[in-house]
Amino acid sequence: GTTLPYPRKAVSKISGMKVNEVTTFMYPDDSSPCYALRMDTPVVGGVGPKGDIVAFSAMCTHMGCPVTYDGGSRTFKCGCHFTIFDPEKGGQMVCGQATEDLPKILLEYDNASGTVTAVGVDGLIFGRQANIL
Ligand code: FES
Repeated sequence: GTTLPYPRKAVSKISGMKVNEVTTFMYPDDSSPCYALRMDTPVVGGVGPKGDIVAFSAMCTHMGCPVTYDGGSRTFKCGCHFTIFDPEKGGQMVCGQATEDLPKILLEYDNASGTVTAVGVDGLIFGRQANIL
């Protein structure tokens, strides 16, 4: 396959990430808001000592509204047309109007420094023909 030239961008130190709360960052560029989450339990595609850190585009795949994280249900919810995405299942769409899962931000974790770094995107960010413009 083709390897796109994704930038490497530090998201946060693990010590700065609160469990079950989002850490907001922009990736792969400044017009693409994303959320990183520390779930405190191993999840699909998770990195870090517990395999619990994941990240996703914050833009709904239906029409691009921002999703918000609901810590009670541990899901992302879109207020525009009520699509729900599951961060513990790789951003899978649980129900609603969207037809695509939430794009995953690929992460690396450095044990020595405790730094979480974004290194790529799996899935097409809403409104784009390619993730790298
Ligand atoms: Fe999110 Fe329509 S924009 S459900």
